Amino acid sequence: MDKEAGHLGVKVHAKRRVKPPQLALVLLAAFSVSYSLTNYLLWPKSSYSETIPIHAQAVLVHCSALSLTPGPPDNFRSRTKSDRFVEGTKPTLIRNATIWTGLENGKEVIRGDILIDKGLIKKIGTVDLRSYHDVEVLDAAGAWVSPGIVDLHSHLGVDSSPALNGAADTNSLKGLTLPWLRSLDGLNTHDDAYRLSISGGLTTANVLPGSADAIGGQAFVIKLRPTAERSSSAMLLEPPFSLNGTHVDPFQRPRWRQMKHACGENPSRVYSGTRMDTQWAFRQAYNTARILKEKQDTYCAKALAGQWNGLGDFPEDLQWEALVDVLRGRVKVQNHCYEAVDLDGMVRLTNEFKFSIAAFHHAHEAYLVPDLIKKAYGHPPAVAIFATSARFKREAYRGSEFAPRILADNGLDVVMKSDHPVLNSRHLIYEAQQAHHFGLPVNLALASVTSTPARIMGQDHRIGRLIEGFDADVVVWDSHPLALGAAPKQVFIDGIAQLDKPYTSVKPKSAQHAPTAPNFDKEIADAIKYEGLPPLEPQPAKSDVVVFKNVGTIFLKNPATRRVSEVFTSASAEGVVVVEKGRIVCSGTQAACPAALSRSDALHLDLEGGSISPGLVSYGSDLGRTHIPGEASTGDGPVFDALRSPVPPIIDGTAIKAADGLLFGTRDALLGYRNGVTSAVTAPGSAFVSGLSTVFSTGAAHKLVPGAVVQEIAALHVAVSLSSRIGVSTQISALRGLLLGEGKGDLGRRFGDVVAGKIPLVVHAESADIIASLLVLKKEVEALGGAPISLTLAGATEAHLLAKELGEAGVGVIVQQRPFPSTWEERRILPGPPLTQASAIAALVAHNVTVGIAVGQPSSVRNTRFDVAWAGLESNGALGKAEVLALASSNLETLLGVKNSNADLVATRGGDDFEGKVVAIISPLSESVNLF
Ligand SMILES: *[C@@H]1O[C@H](CO)[C@@H](O)[C@H](O)[C@H]1NC(C)=O
Ligand SMILES: *[C@@H]1O[C@H](CO)[C@@H](O)[C@H](O)[C@H]1NC(C)=O
Ligand SMILES: *[C@@H]1O[C@H](CO)[C@@H](O)[C@H](O)[C@H]1NC(C)=O
Repeated sequence: MDKEAGHLGVKVHAKRRVKPPQLALVLLAAFSVSYSLTNYLLWPKSSYSETIPIHAQAVLVHCSALSLTPGPPDNFRSRTKSDRFVEGTKPTLIRNATIWTGLENGKEVIRGDILIDKGLIKKIGTVDLRSYHDVEVLDAAGAWVSPGIVDLHSHLGVDSSPALNGAADTNSLKGLTLPWLRSLDGLNTHDDAYRLSISGGLTTANVLPGSADAIGGQAFVIKLRPTAERSSSAMLLEPPFSLNGTHVDPFQRPRWRQMKHACGENPSRVYSGTRMDTQWAFRQAYNTARILKEKQDTYCAKALAGQWNGLGDFPEDLQWEALVDVLRGRVKVQNHCYEAVDLDGMVRLTNEFKFSIAAFHHAHEAYLVPDLIKKAYGHPPAVAIFATSARFKREAYRGSEFAPRILADNGLDVVMKSDHPVLNSRHLIYEAQQAHHFGLPVNLALASVTSTPARIMGQDHRIGRLIEGFDADVVVWDSHPLALGAAPKQVFIDGIAQLDKPYTSVKPKSAQHAPTAPNFDKEIADAIKYEGLPPLEPQPAKSDVVVFKNVGTIFLKNPATRRVSEVFTSASAEGVVVVEKGRIVCSGTQAACPAALSRSDALHLDLEGGSISPGLVSYGSDLGRTHIPGEASTGDGPVFDALRSPVPPIIDGTAIKAADGLLFGTRDALLGYRNGVTSAVTAPGSAFVSGLSTVFSTGAAHKLVPGAVVQEIAALHVAVSLSSRIGVSTQISALRGLLLGEGKGDLGRRFGDVVAGKIPLVVHAESADIIASLLVLKKEVEALGGAPISLTLAGATEAHLLAKELGEAGVGVIVQQRPFPSTWEERRILPGPPLTQASAIAALVAHNVTVGIAVGQPSSVRNTRFDVAWAGLESNGALGKAEVLALASSNLETLLGVKNSNADLVATRGGDDFEGKVVAIISPLSESVNLF
């Protein structure tokens, strides 16, 4: 019985003596278990003929294939057509582009053209089109062009957006170590986020299982574009050959596989265990895999030596084969792991079982232990992190915005990732932008979302850089990709333009080059010195008089009208601001303040063309209510929800005051202060009736410092939501009752204050349908009560659908700057450029709706100054700098019932947005200038 051995053309006969020298040489080259050449070439020996099994040849082929390392075929670079090419796609010439290729360590920039055809980049530089016809031409007019953005860590398609209970497919709870699971099995092809993320330039994502398990399963790399087949499988980029039962050529190098690992809090918490239990689960799983691998290797060594007697079948186990492949170095292990203790455990594990980790993800403490990371088996893992999202649990408490820079300084690979939908991967480039602002060089910042993740996921032979012969995944940007608010003008995936009718916002000329990052040398040194907890408290200037020199612009808020306006601007940055005891005594040109420069008692600060502007206000997060949102014992805690459970009689009828639970000196509040957010409005915990919000100073040390509590009671807060376990109709009925005087005690009186127009009612509502019902209710109550109710909507993701009605009703809204369809009631977002001309904020402002900007997480408070600038940049000129400052200052104060307007001023050194650094807060209340 003859069997063909694939393309080797070798025949192995059970009954006939043959000498397979070619097979021998191939196997010899490929097989790692040592055996003697002489033995091999002499094989089969005289007694072979009775014992060689019928499938011997298949076994030998299988054994030899075990040691092949993953990678593309040798001739991959000479391909003329992509395996993902869609027939009928026309060639495209992107003319006159500024091309960041990713080559030369990310320092190469080519001015020229890019020709894409057959799903590939055919030519970069000067393109000769003579052999082409019917070419689409996109005139980039000098615009920046980059490779498609690559996300090393995403749950796109498995974590559903909008989130639905029936579609939470990220985590299996069937065990701690489940290397046999595949994220592909939960990959929904209809998720709202594909289109949104593509519109931010994202072209490829590594879709990982979640972190509830130590070994959560296998991950899969996808390209985000819609496919003709419309299947999950069709989205995959280079899936493992055996995935769908297709015949596998055993002599072809395998493709990279991906696997999720997680250590620390998540797996420990989900299984009510400890770190010790999780780590043991890892060792147990790896031991199972090791034993199986050794059995296989022994088996193959014997088979190759011709010792077939009693060998039986090749040892295999469908559940453990993927983990055995990890030990064979054929899987990219993507390891969620935050703290030094956990990184240490994993490094030990890699050395005990001899496998390598592709990347540590989240890894908020990696920058504190670079030498530990270098001890991992094989090679140092890359570190895949967030830019500024931190402190949400203990594991993230020591996270630093300077981590990317510090890791790079230590020679480690830095990747910025989204963990989508934890961060919206549409804005993954924003993570790279922030990393750059905080010290990561331009080349590495761009690489951190393109070439580096492509390499770490084993796809750098085709994506992540712009090279002839690579996949045609290309983004044409409206500004330098590291400039704040950079948005694609067009995105190509496999050579197919993804944006049908892209809208662009005109960006300032200055946005066409990479921002100049401020100097953070001291902060970087302190992050390491204080192990992630550097002191953040402001230091009052020792002098009563502070002179700010080289001021570029001054924005002030009129205390009476609250209007923010630009009162001074100088292109040559020759402005002067003199402050005495926390108040401006003189400002303008040097000529206007003659005495200022000569004051010998003054502290002089050079703002290098920077600005003086109003202190910002924050609303929307639990700022001032918690140190670590994930740790109940570090915060004020929840309020009772009267619609869900009986309120204990002792507080029934009480309006809860956030002021009573305020926590000062949280790191997020102090970081907010350092970044110009000097006051915040916080409501008690979320519930149908939350209670009364309070206004506090983010820089105050404790509640008894004068001015720490700016205003004890600001507004009354309620929430109406489709996501509540109680119906919306019930919620609105209850609200109607409260507004019509049916509430009792203190709470009843507070609703009376709302009806009398004394304090605003802030309703957290996302859905346009709920918002419409609230507008009807407002009219209904006003018709009975007489006075106009001051109603503010918070959340309000779908408010743009009722912009006209809200404008007419005089109802203001507080929205997040970057909308995302997290839940069903938020799904009708107005995404803004490049998908729609108007952003939600611009659309609301166009109807004279008073708009404030909210943040979602305490750790995002520090980025408010970026949020407001971004709102201006995507408004196509509709919102000037004074108007956007108002979004997070005077508008919020108006909408939230803040009577004592924040009078602090923020001194920023350097240019706009990412080029500036807040260096001082001018505080009239504390009669000082606070320095950092
Ligand atoms: C490329 O674009 C720049 C910027 O719009 C323009 O000044 C230049 O003339 C263009 N060059 C060519 C060759 O079209
Ligand atoms: C299986 O996947 C390969 C690509 O890896 C593809 O070429 C083949 O058509 C697929 N087969 C089936 C039956 O879907
Ligand atoms: C907004 O207000 C301005 C000034 O009061 C007014 O001229 C304009 O018509 C208003 N726009 C809308 C859409 O109501």
